[in-house]
Amino acid sequence: MIDACRFEPLGGEEDLQGVLEVEGESFTNPWTREMYAWELQNRAVCHIYVARATDCPVAGFCAFWLVFDEIHINNIALRRKYRGQGMGTALMRHVLREATRLGAHRATLEVRASNEPARRLYERLGFHVAGTRRNYYSNPVEDALILWRDETS
Ligand SMILES: CC(C)(COP(=O)(O)OP(=O)(O)OC[C@H]1O[C@@H](n2cnc3c(N)ncnc32)[C@H](O)[C@@H]1OP(=O)(O)O)[C@@H](O)C(=O)NCCC(=O)NCCS
Repeated sequence: MIDACRFEPLGGEEDLQGVLEVEGESFTNPWTREMYAWELQNRAVCHIYVARATDCPVAGFCAFWLVFDEIHINNIALRRKYRGQGMGTALMRHVLREATRLGAHRATLEVRASNEPARRLYERLGFHVAGTRRNYYSNPVEDALILWRDETS
């Protein structure tokens, strides 16, 4: 499965539709088409990579902002059937490599405190907890952990 998947920058409308479907099955407050349309007006800052499986053109995606030498990872998600098989780790490794190529030296993101799969993925890739935002998430209300990764870690 993972050997066969590949990662590419977001293409056209079909890719965006796939991203919206993944959002819908992954998050209680999914980003909307309008939010993505706004984001995509600035492709110098907003970067989106899609994960393509042999049987699915958009099995998952990762969206981040590149600001100076930092990336802020806004969303990473896979369709349910592709989770727990290493694809999220492979996608995140790809994004970190691309970010380095684009000149980034550090990466940050927020994660729900209870999101074990995501936290394990990030911690294994060298992210560490740098702080907490109380009640940052809604539906359900929950703290966010703020994670950072330096290129040397
Ligand atoms: C988070 C997500 C992208 C991870 O991708 P993935 O392909 O499922 O993860 P991987 O298979 O690469 O595994 C990453 C780690 O999570 C662990 N993991 C995977 N599924 C798990 C589960 N259901 N429960 C607990 N741990 C799990 C793996 O064991 C691995 O940890 P390890 O290396 O210590 O063994 C994916 O699960 C997902 O789309 N989740 C829903 C959306 C989401 O929560 N996004 C993150 C927002 S911050």
